[in-house]
Amino acid sequence: MTQFKFKTDIAPSQITPESIYEKRREFMITSGVLGTALLLNPWTSARASVAISDYKPNVVNTGEALTSEKDATTYNNFYEFGTGKTDPLQNAQNLNTDDWKITVSGECDKPGEYALEDLVKPFDIEERIYRLRCVEAWSMVIPWLGVPMASILKSLQPTSKAKYVAFKTLLDPEQMPGQKRSVLQWPYEEGLRIDEAMNPLTLFAVGMYGKTMPNQNGAPVRLVVPWKYGFKSIKSIVSIEFTEEQPQTSWNISGPNEYGFYSNVNPEVNHPRWSQKKERRIGEIFKQKTRMFNGYETEVAHLYKDMNLKTYF
Ligand code: MTE
Repeated sequence: MTQFKFKTDIAPSQITPESIYEKRREFMITSGVLGTALLLNPWTSARASVAISDYKPNVVNTGEALTSEKDATTYNNFYEFGTGKTDPLQNAQNLNTDDWKITVSGECDKPGEYALEDLVKPFDIEERIYRLRCVEAWSMVIPWLGVPMASILKSLQPTSKAKYVAFKTLLDPEQMPGQKRSVLQWPYEEGLRIDEAMNPLTLFAVGMYGKTMPNQNGAPVRLVVPWKYGFKSIKSIVSIEFTEEQPQTSWNISGPNEYGFYSNVNPEVNHPRWSQKKERRIGEIFKQKTRMFNGYETEVAHLYKDMNLKTYF
């Protein structure tokens, strides 16, 4: 049973809705070990996107107070649904995430079109409490649910030429009215170096706060790359491409001096129009110091050991 314990003294009941917590306890009692529970189908999928009914507890925890679920689901950036913070909540509710498909292409041995359920296996889902630091100098602490990106990428068998992974969001201006305006180049695209994508922190997230991912937060599946500015954490992913060359990214195209490919959280490199030294945790009044790599230095600093992070911002 110890594998269900959280690493800090935050009890699961404090961060998981009571009903789910109770269900999970019941599940633990009846199944005993995770393996035997494979017989139970946790995919009680009401809307055919990823419904969450059980998951492994977090292995990484900031130990900080969580941002309220209300703040995290009402104050969003998702330009496909408008540029205002409450636009995604208002405009994303009709996004159809049924039968979601992801196209896998490029330098790998398993290209093709995958149903989301074929890539994300229910018993691989973990809860991870990560800070997300937006480039706009605010941040949140969110209990995400997802699968380590490394396990998905490995299953697609990248070739030795795969140096980067490029991701794209759905392109559908009818469903995503923000795409009718050219505020960014659509579809939204992002990319990571393959070792960044394979780092154990990188999450392919399908839920938060014990529930299926809300549309405004990037349903049915998004990245969470906690040591990078929030815009690297691309939402509503429909394409994964393994590439030899560094892929282009929407924000870098829109402002090459402001948004680099790496975009690691770095208090020493200011955005050209504002300082990155401090941040405001949503829901709190006072600002706090921003930490290098958003506080995940131990886990990721080795990825950039010989790089000048002012040049590669
Ligand atoms: N993904 C897409 N497709 N479109 C976007 O506009 N905004 C990014 C990122 N992912 C964005 C996106 C930015 S700027 C941030 S800060 C985070 O999503 C915000 O995630 P949240 O709304 O869940 O807090």
